[in-house]
Amino acid sequence: MTSIAYGERIPNNVALADNKVLQRALEHWQPRFLSWWKEMGPSDFNAAEVYLRTATSVDAKGWATYGSVMMPDYRWGIFLADQIPERKIGFGDLLGQPVWHQVPGEHRSTLRRLIVTQGDTEPASVEQQRLLGHVAPSIYDLRSLFQINVEEGRHLWAMVYLLHAYFGRDGREEAEALLERHSGNRDNPRILNTFNEPVEDWLSLFMFTYFTDRDGKYQLKCLAESGFDPLARTCRFMLTEEAYHMSVGMLGLGRVIKRTAEVMKEIGSDDPEAVRRAGAIDLPTFQRYLNFWYSSSLDLFGSEVSSNAATTFANGIKGRPDETTAFEDHEIRNATFALESPDGETGVRREDVPMRNAVNEIVRGAYIGDCEVGLRLWNRTLSRANIQFEIRLPSSRFNRTVGVWAGNPVDPSGERMSNEAWAQRKAGWLPSESDRAYVKGLMKRVTEPGKVAGWIAPPERGVGTHPPDYEYVRL
Ligand SMILES: [Fe+2]
Ligand SMILES: [Fe+2]
Repeated sequence: MTSIAYGERIPNNVALADNKVLQRALEHWQPRFLSWWKEMGPSDFNAAEVYLRTATSVDAKGWATYGSVMMPDYRWGIFLADQIPERKIGFGDLLGQPVWHQVPGEHRSTLRRLIVTQGDTEPASVEQQRLLGHVAPSIYDLRSLFQINVEEGRHLWAMVYLLHAYFGRDGREEAEALLERHSGNRDNPRILNTFNEPVEDWLSLFMFTYFTDRDGKYQLKCLAESGFDPLARTCRFMLTEEAYHMSVGMLGLGRVIKRTAEVMKEIGSDDPEAVRRAGAIDLPTFQRYLNFWYSSSLDLFGSEVSSNAATTFANGIKGRPDETTAFEDHEIRNATFALESPDGETGVRREDVPMRNAVNEIVRGAYIGDCEVGLRLWNRTLSRANIQFEIRLPSSRFNRTVGVWAGNPVDPSGERMSNEAWAQRKAGWLPSESDRAYVKGLMKRVTEPGKVAGWIAPPERGVGTHPPDYEYVRL
């Protein structure tokens, strides 16, 4: 077990005290982070006592301890998973060679770009979610939101540590810029589009944590394979926190479905308007929100054919998820991937592309499989309630703005269609203004412990040692 220095201003397990220059640089960045948190983090809750878990060691048992804390006093720290002795690069042209403990000069700008892109998503999501506390459906949910927010703040610390420790002056400048870009800002937006989408209601939050945090999981899995060992170790530890974010999405969406099914039974109708009159989220609206967040998150994996992805794979910088266990061929020099892309006005072409160029698509495929888990659970809830409605993932071609399907409309089953037909039918497949207005109208703040808003079922379990009706946030 690696011990964590908790007495220091910045908790860490990287022996920060032994590197005074780095320690001073990070202590200089710390107040900037805090003023960003106060300005752009959860609005109006900085004086509330929140029951939060904090990482205190990186081993299986001790990495999360719970306690009440005001968010600005949260112990954001720098934690790397333990070093694997004699670790070797597990893929690409350098397969079997020792991993790097410093940044190789020739890969410096690529690694910096990857770290900055990952780092940018972390504060972005906190900014996207900053107003949601005002309309939390329960005190339990309010705690979940804040737990995710402080951990995304810690993920920012994780990336900033790498920038400061390994990239010198330009790393420090990038660390500043991570606090200067803002989600949705017209002049200085966040790097990736999904992280500029507003998250203004809790249905969107649960979709975001289910689908977009899961993209984060897959990016981290790829970086956890990196030949740059400090990056690999950082990402391995971040994955343990990411799992919680996705579970908030999965359980939250499950509770929405459960409540909707109850309401449909009570009113004896599956008419979406009747469901809305009864104050629940009708299933077609749920499906449209899912279609939007899923397709937006699919874009985050990048183009199906990518020479960048081929290069970072070849150079041992970014692997595939579970590279060691999920694949046999770690070099993929001669393998090909059958890629489908639009052909002419209405057709679909299938062509073989070099497997290395299709790495983004391979990662996206693994992600899609992982997304199915929740749908199986939610559909079981519906079928048990004798409701004839199946929630589905739309085709990965649907509503894409990145890659070969961008600008080529298809229906949710993946069939190509004209721009005119798309314009006419789109409102049935993606949230309309009136859907958003309806969902937003449901968002009313519930603050009494144990009570929940009418559009969502109560949680089945509490957090830590506490029951669901515990006062998780003292306002
Ligand atoms: Fe994160
Ligand atoms: Fe996350």
